[in-house]
Amino acid sequence: MHCPPLAVAVAADLAVSALNPSQDSWDQAPAATALETLLLKELARLVGYDAELAAGVLTSGGTESNLMGLMLARDRVLGAVTGRPVELEGLPGTGPGAFPRPRILASASAHFSVQRAAALLGLGEDAVLAVPVDRQLRMKTDALAAALTDCADRGELPIAVVATAGTTDTGAVDPLRACASLAAEHGAWLHVDAAYGGGALLSDRLAPLLDGLALADSVSLDWHKLGWQPAAAGVFLVRRSETYASLARRAVYLNPADDEEAGYPSLLGLSLRTTRRADAFKIAVTLRTLGRAGLGRLVDACHDLAVAGARTVRNHPRLELHAEPVLTAFLFRYLPADATNADPTDVDAINASLRRRLLREGRAVVGRTELPGEGPGRVRLKLTLLNPHTTPAQVDRLLHTVVAAGLAEEAQ
Ligand SMILES: Cc1ncc(COP(=O)(O)O)c(C=O)c1O
Repeated sequence: MHCPPLAVAVAADLAVSALNPSQDSWDQAPAATALETLLLKELARLVGYDAELAAGVLTSGGTESNLMGLMLARDRVLGAVTGRPVELEGLPGTGPGAFPRPRILASASAHFSVQRAAALLGLGEDAVLAVPVDRQLRMKTDALAAALTDCADRGELPIAVVATAGTTDTGAVDPLRACASLAAEHGAWLHVDAAYGGGALLSDRLAPLLDGLALADSVSLDWHKLGWQPAAAGVFLVRRSETYASLARRAVYLNPADDEEAGYPSLLGLSLRTTRRADAFKIAVTLRTLGRAGLGRLVDACHDLAVAGARTVRNHPRLELHAEPVLTAFLFRYLPADATNADPTDVDAINASLRRRLLREGRAVVGRTELPGEGPGRVRLKLTLLNPHTTPAQVDRLLHTVVAAGLAEEAQ
């Protein structure tokens, strides 16, 4: 999921390294503080938020942004900051008696950082309920509705629904509007992990896939994925700034109240970190240089490449496409001779070992994953196409190299 960074972004990042401002107090980063604030307003507009009501911060990436979204969801109901549960009254599952068990609902294909965030937040990894997905690895709406109803029936408290806009493996986008209305109906926070799929906002062709994103309470975006920035360039946004209170702190040596009142703002209370690089600069310089349209052309080029690669897979007798690409990635596998009668465990083993052969021989780096579910036959290879300079002919050559490696494994 790592992109080749744009030269202009690398140059901007070099300037940041040389000047080394830190975003924890205004006096250490006056220009960077102003720039991050302006950039976040622009990105809030891109998401469809009202920029005057939204708030956000730059993060180290989707992992940190997902943690922050779930932290706000937790604190909204559990009052981790004040020690007093807030907004609890009237929520489903909250009667007199024992405190209801908090639950997070995310699809079976959501990023693993959701579970880890639940653990870090003291909720336990098993607070996350995996909602079943369809073939494209998109959350099933009826399954989400049923899971939320089951929570209520068990007297549990669904504190958040996490929808993924661009799953790590297939780029699938969960049904955002349906997730928003179900979350609202059950009093849950909606966090959308658009770490990968957020790049679709840059493309007129693909932006409609993210319809409903603006209904999310919080969003993760990563410009070091489909945004051609050097890492790190993560973004965390909330729709309503007043919901973003968990991290607000007064440190007399960093953000004294009278400085803030006098017009010297500090971003300290928005981030989990204290010292923080001025990552906004490279993103702002990139947007200034290429504009949304220029970046959108790069997104479209990578999407075209994925569509062309998927076509090659579909037309090759020894390759099997899992599903049409949504963004710039697709899953496939090598089919051994007589694949219909082959043991699925053997098909998995050949795909796993052909990938290692390609690595060992220094010929190609192909992703590997497994479809959700149980049992053998789930191993898939993955191409995540993030280099707009790659040509369809190069992707074809790569796919033929995969087939050759599969034949070599079978011949062994
Ligand atoms: C959907 C999704 N969310 C979150 C992440 C984590 O992002 P990061 O590695 O920037 O923390 C990834 C990484 O690939 C991802 O694909």
